[in-house]
Amino acid sequence: MNNVDFVIKLGGSAITDKKSPLTANIKVIENIAFELSSIKKLPSIIIVYGGGSFGHFIANKYIHNGKIISSIGVAEIHSAMLTLTEIITSYFIKYKLPVFPINSSSSFILSNGELNSFIKPIEYSLNNNLIPIIGGDVILSEKDVRILSGDKIASFLAKEFNAKTLAFGTDVDGIILDNKILHKVRLSEIENIIPKIKVNQIDVTGGMVNKLLEIKNYIASGGRKAIIFNITRFGMLTKLLLGEENIGTEVDKD
Ligand SMILES: Nc1ncnc2c1ncn2[C@@H]1O[C@H](COP(=O)(O)OP(=O)(O)OP(=O)(O)O)[C@@H](O)[C@H]1O
Ligand SMILES: [Mg+2]
Repeated sequence: MNNVDFVIKLGGSAITDKKSPLTANIKVIENIAFELSSIKKLPSIIIVYGGGSFGHFIANKYIHNGKIISSIGVAEIHSAMLTLTEIITSYFIKYKLPVFPINSSSSFILSNGELNSFIKPIEYSLNNNLIPIIGGDVILSEKDVRILSGDKIASFLAKEFNAKTLAFGTDVDGIILDNKILHKVRLSEIENIIPKIKVNQIDVTGGMVNKLLEIKNYIASGGRKAIIFNITRFGMLTKLLLGEENIGTEVDKD
């Protein structure tokens, strides 16, 4: 498996309007595409995206105890994510970025509660100078259907491809406590931060709390640094890719 420099998650909070069903934030998507296309020598990247107002709104209607309770619900969520995929892809292509969308519902299944993956297409995309992009979606298990979050896919792929940086682009400047951004967080501090984070009911994948839990597992199991940053601020993505420091909240091992 080849290594990558970055796994970047385009948060649904940034690329969509989470207050309005099925609404993409075109300005942010276009700015991201523009920034990526403006970097002379783009590092190796895998792009992951979250469901935002395409995933969470519909999923919310159909989820019970983590399972999707209606077949038409599964179809609707999957279809909405395909629409979001197409929107992102079309803007990336507008800026001549050779993106290659990969369907997570066909790359991941749950078998006996374990995540099984077929990620060769991601490896081969990288080998062929394509930018693989993959989003949160519904995934199948033996007898039910669940949601696989973009956060989970991002940390999973960062691990598999030994990413130097796992970056979560969101609509906030990082983890904010007492109106201040936490610039550096150590693994052992995450437990104390989690109870102070607001829970968002609309979010079927656990919002910022689950993002932090995901990061905690990632770093604890040997992942390198993770960053939460504001990708809606024009220029931040470029700073991240050029290796600048202090662009949000950085989480490292102890
Ligand atoms: N203490 C906090 N610091 C920063 N953000 C917080 C905090 N508490 C709650 N949040 C919320 O967490 C949100 C980011 O998590 P959320 O899951 O909504 O975004 P996302 O992962 O980008 O979206 P998606 O899950 O659709 O991909 C922010 O928009 C913010 O409102
Ligand atoms: Mg989220």
